[in-house]
Amino acid sequence: MEIKIDSLENIHEAAKKFIAAMGDNTVFAFYGKMGAGKTTFIKAVCEELGVTDVINSPTFAIVNEYRSDENGELIYHFDFYRIKKLEEVYDMGYEDYLYSGALCFIEWPELIEELLPGDAVSVHIDENEDGTRTVRFDENND
Ligand SMILES: Nc1ncnc2c1ncn2[C@@H]1O[C@H](COP(=O)(O)OP(=O)(O)O)[C@@H](O)[C@H]1O
Ligand SMILES: [Mg+2]
Repeated sequence: MEIKIDSLENIHEAAKKFIAAMGDNTVFAFYGKMGAGKTTFIKAVCEELGVTDVINSPTFAIVNEYRSDENGELIYHFDFYRIKKLEEVYDMGYEDYLYSGALCFIEWPELIEELLPGDAVSVHIDENEDGTRTVRFDENND
């Protein structure tokens, strides 16, 4: 499906549409250039899922953990931009997160492509010429 985000003002509306289409999938790999809006969209999705923590890209750690105040469930937010070797990803115990059944939102999944679960949903975010964003993903991934 395709979700258009016209401006930051309607990003929460877009996040709701995304959540409605997530189905039973738990691992979402967000592809998109630097500045495309991955962190911002993941933040909006987490907020709509009831997370009230401060949500930023995990700059100093590879993963940030949030808890939804609505249902107590954990959400993991990864940013693999800074990894230099896959060993770092093995060392952080990525499997415990990605196969936990908890929601996982991943930035820069291309850097750990071979470690992504087969049922991970690929999500593409693009900035259009007019500054709007388009979020695309395949709903029938499972
Ligand atoms: N849907 C959007 N509409 C307008 N501006 C956006 C949108 N999404 C992100 N931005 C802006 O683009 C910049 C980069 O966003 P960010 O989410 O950090 O990108 P990424 O994580 O893909 O590198 C930020 O200044 C942010 O405010
Ligand atoms: Mg980011």
